[in-house]
Amino acid sequence: MIGPGTGVAPFLSFLQDRRVRGARGRTWLFFGEQRRATDFYYADELAALQADGTLHRLDLAFSRDQRTKVYVQDRMREHSARLWSWLQDGAHVYVCGDASRMAADVDRTLREIVALHGGLDADGAAAYVRQLTTDRRYLRDIY
Ligand SMILES: NC(=O)c1ccc[n+]([C@@H]2O[C@H](COP(=O)([O-])OP(=O)(O)OC[C@H]3O[C@@H](n4cnc5c(N)ncnc54)[C@H](OP(=O)(O)O)[C@@H]3O)[C@@H](O)[C@H]2O)c1
Repeated sequence: MIGPGTGVAPFLSFLQDRRVRGARGRTWLFFGEQRRATDFYYADELAALQADGTLHRLDLAFSRDQRTKVYVQDRMREHSARLWSWLQDGAHVYVCGDASRMAADVDRTLREIVALHGGLDADGAAAYVRQLTTDRRYLRDIY
């Protein structure tokens, strides 16, 4: 799940639903906002979901807490080997949030990660990501 800003909202419901149903697959959320002190939406709820084992990984990108901006796609790059291994294990990728810049940058980063770890050229990586979409393993709700 990649849900910076307001994009995190549906993932809360998604995770709560998984908790109630006792879903067993692993879950990983990338969340980003401007400042941890004021913009860490659902911090308590996410901590609880981590504590009870519903949310397995949480990576955070607070863009304005340091001089150089950090975004969710930077965290994806930092953990690209792990992300690739989850994809190879059948992970589904959900993106929610800003359509104008974030979604395109995350899409580009996903293709870069696939190319890097899958040993593919740009066309091959694009085809891999297209196949994820065809298989409904790459779903976006962007606005
Ligand atoms: N929040 C609202 O009340 C509201 C109301 C109406 C419409 N919208 C629209 O809804 C969309 C989402 O807005 P949002 O409020 O959820 O938050 P957002 O504007 O998407 O910002 C959330 C986080 O994403 C960062 N960000 C900026 N550019 C990015 C990029 N290219 N890739 C990845 N992350 C990036 C922002 O950093 P920086 O800001 O530090 O660059 C911020 O830390 C936007 O199109 C917005 O115009 C929001």
